[in-house]
Order: sequence, then structure tokens, then C-alpha cells
Amino acid sequence: MEILDGKALALKRRAALAEWVAAHRDKAGRAPGLTVLLAGDDPASATYVRSKEKAAAKAGIQGEVQRLPADISENELLARIEALNADETVDGILVQLPLPQGLDEDLLLDAIDPSKDVDGFHPINSGALWQQRGQVAPCTPQGIMHLLAEHSIELSGQHAVIVGRSNIVGRPMAELLLQQHATVTIAHSRTRDLPSLLGGADIVVAAVGRPGFIQANWLKEGAVCIDVGINRIEDGLVGDFEWQGLDQVARAATPVPGGVGPMTIATLL
Ligand code: GUN
Repeated sequence: MEILDGKALALKRRAALAEWVAAHRDKAGRAPGLTVLLAGDDPASATYVRSKEKAAAKAGIQGEVQRLPADISENELLARIEALNADETVDGILVQLPLPQGLDEDLLLDAIDPSKDVDGFHPINSGALWQQRGQVAPCTPQGIMHLLAEHSIELSGQHAVIVGRSNIVGRPMAELLLQQHATVTIAHSRTRDLPSLLGGADIVVAAVGRPGFIQANWLKEGAVCIDVGINRIEDGLVGDFEWQGLDQVARAATPVPGGVGPMTIATLL
């Protein structure tokens, strides 16, 4: 089984980006600017944002994180987003999800200037993506596409089954795979007989958030396994695929950690 090493490709892409940033900084008179709004104290979000912050700094990007209390008002967040929209030194704005309870996610994401929407979550950007005229796609599925391309994984005519239908991963993943001529199925919690469905899949993208949920014996011989799950258990981090026995059946798989996660950050930058 080939290991699709996201960490290695992310480092390569980040090194290339750092060169690009250095070359363009002088021309532009400043470094590219990325501001992250992190409201509340979700521990996983805090970890992800810290990784984004470090990676941005290493690439020469002017990163700023606004760490805000969980009880921040919607109006205060809106005012911050509007200030960033107007700030010419800020090229990218990212509102870390999930937001604390009581804040209207749609309202806040809609307030971001679509040209600064590095997540691609604004309806202008997600709608454009579905019409094949997107300028920006969500980082996790786009990072997965880079990883598949790096390993020359054939997509045209292949049956890809995506497990999970979120706006962050499942839905945009479907469109990106479709653009590369895969036949795409989106499965979710109400899908009947997932094991049979996966038995016909050439590519499986799992974004479920349940440790070891996808069993190796459900998969077709030669399947390519893309694991978006990051589940914290007693022994550390594990993905959504049961790793035990996977190498007997899969042609390739992304490890957790070191697979999709690092690609998400590199692609964001
Ligand atoms: N929470 C989990 N993944 C993401 C992401 O890609 N972007 C944002 N903004 N929040 C997230």
C-alpha cells in the first residue's frame, strides 16, 4: 500500500510558496496578509489555528490571529470583519469554525469580502465553484486534489464515494472530483448499506469524525483511501479508517496524522 504522505508534499509546497512570497514582497511593498478570527476556546480549533499561524509566519505571510471570547457579540464580530474587508494590508480573512453557540455562521461568513475569502465558504465562491468558475475552493478538498495529483492517482471514470456532506469537505470535494471526471457519490449518516456502496468505490474520502469507522473489509481491492478524520482517542490521533488490515486491500492511503491535515494548511496559505 502506498502511503500518501501529506506532510512531505505540504513541506514542498510551503517551501515553494515561501520563495514566491519573498519574490513578490518587494514588488508589492509588503507581505501578503492573512487574519484569522478565532472566537471561543474549542481546543481543536485552537490547535489548528496555532498551526496555521506558525505555517504562515514560516512562509513569510503577515499572519494575525484575533483571539476573541466565546461570548463575543455578533455585532462585534461583524464590525471586525468589516474592518478587515476595508484594510488594504489584509488579503485573506478566515473565521475559524465552529463558532460559539448563538452566533449566526451564515450571517458572518456572508459578511466576508468574497475576494478575501480564503476558505471559499462565501456563497459567491461556493456557487462559482459548482459552476466551474471558482477562483477559490475550500482548503481541505483542494489539498486532497493536490495530493492525488502528486501521486498520479487516476480520477477520470473512477467511482469516488465521499462519506460526509459538510460544506467544508464533502460537498466541495464532490465538485472538485467531478471536475476531474470522476463519478461521484456522496454518502452520509442516512445512507443505507454503506459497506455495499464502498465495495464498489475506487476512491473513498471519509470525513465522518468517528475513529476507525470505515472497515478494511468493506473496501474494494485496490481502493484509494483518503482520511479526513482527526479523532483524538487515548492513544493519540486516529482517522476514520480502521488502519488494521487496510494495507491488505487498499492501493494507497493517507495516514493520520501526516496526511490530509498538513495539506489543508499548505493549501490555505
Ligand atoms: N474548521 C475546520 N476546518 C476548517 C476550515 O477549513 N476553515 C475554517 N474556517 N474553519 C474550519
